Amino acid sequence: MNKKIVQLDDYLNKNKTSGIELKRLEEDLQLVFDRLDKDEYKKGGFSKNKFNIPDRTKEYYVYLEFYCYLAKTWAKVLKEIGIDKYKTVVDLCPGYTPKIELALFYLNYSGRVLVLDKEMDSMKELVKFMNLFNPKYSITSKKIDVFKEKQKYEFIVANHIVDDLVIDHFCHKWSIKPGDVYEVEGMLKKIWEKILKDTDKNTSEILPKITNLFKNISKKGSTIVISQYQSYIERLLDINSVTKFNKNLLGKLIYELKKAGFLNERKLVKKALDKYKGHFKSNECFVLRRSR
Ligand SMILES: C[S@@+](CC[C@H](N)C(=O)[O-])C[C@H]1O[C@@H](n2cnc3c(N)ncnc32)[C@H](O)[C@@H]1O
Repeated sequence: MNKKIVQLDDYLNKNKTSGIELKRLEEDLQLVFDRLDKDEYKKGGFSKNKFNIPDRTKEYYVYLEFYCYLAKTWAKVLKEIGIDKYKTVVDLCPGYTPKIELALFYLNYSGRVLVLDKEMDSMKELVKFMNLFNPKYSITSKKIDVFKEKQKYEFIVANHIVDDLVIDHFCHKWSIKPGDVYEVEGMLKKIWEKILKDTDKNTSEILPKITNLFKNISKKGSTIVISQYQSYIERLLDINSVTKFNKNLLGKLIYELKKAGFLNERKLVKKALDKYKGHFKSNECFVLRRSR
């Protein structure tokens, strides 16, 4: 057996350990086990050793590689749409990670990117990171609750946003700090368990809110592009039912938007993605044009 595991076993046998220590150890070991089981330990560990340069760099590259891969998938769709004809691209709720911004960078886009999110900190980091690449476009951030946005835009992109809006809504309803959901390990799983207790009721409650959001921020002739796929976290936490909930909600959202005068450009998405092995597939992405 590995020397460190033997050492830990010896230590626990010889020393009196408090209940809280054992509880923490058990939780940490569970996390290690979960990562081993999901092949995640190969990508990055819990090492606090800042001087372990190979480990630290490798972990960083794994994340960057993922963002770039996702951005390349987005670039395929945005290229097919002909992004150059739009002066401004609105990126809805991106958080810290510049997926759409990297895609636009790959496409040499030279207009303006407007980021809408209610967290200023994440937008600042996103802008700082993207500016390292000297993109041809300019980036502006607007701190806003998108449910309350009244301004209308011509071209709106939403990467993996359905779950964010669901969480945001139920956090408010149940007085949970939205930040905690993404920062405290275990919280995300807990809130989803609560949402999934009454799938139908909660879907009916959130659907009109999300539908109105997209109707409010788009004008006649505008385009909305949405993708929703199984996220890294959903896979890591083994919460397939969450992926299912969001996909079903997105399907209903598309249906409602079609009823409200949006055209679903299936051919365009299929042309962009069907022969490309991207991070999301053509049935996980929607290009909607508002006709009235
Ligand atoms: C997990 S992060 C980013 C996820 C991102 N869509 C992605 O997967 O690439 C979720 C972000 O959504 C933002 N957000 C959630 N609800 C929002 C709302 N109602 N208005 C504005 N931003 C919101 C949060 O502030 C946060 O930055």
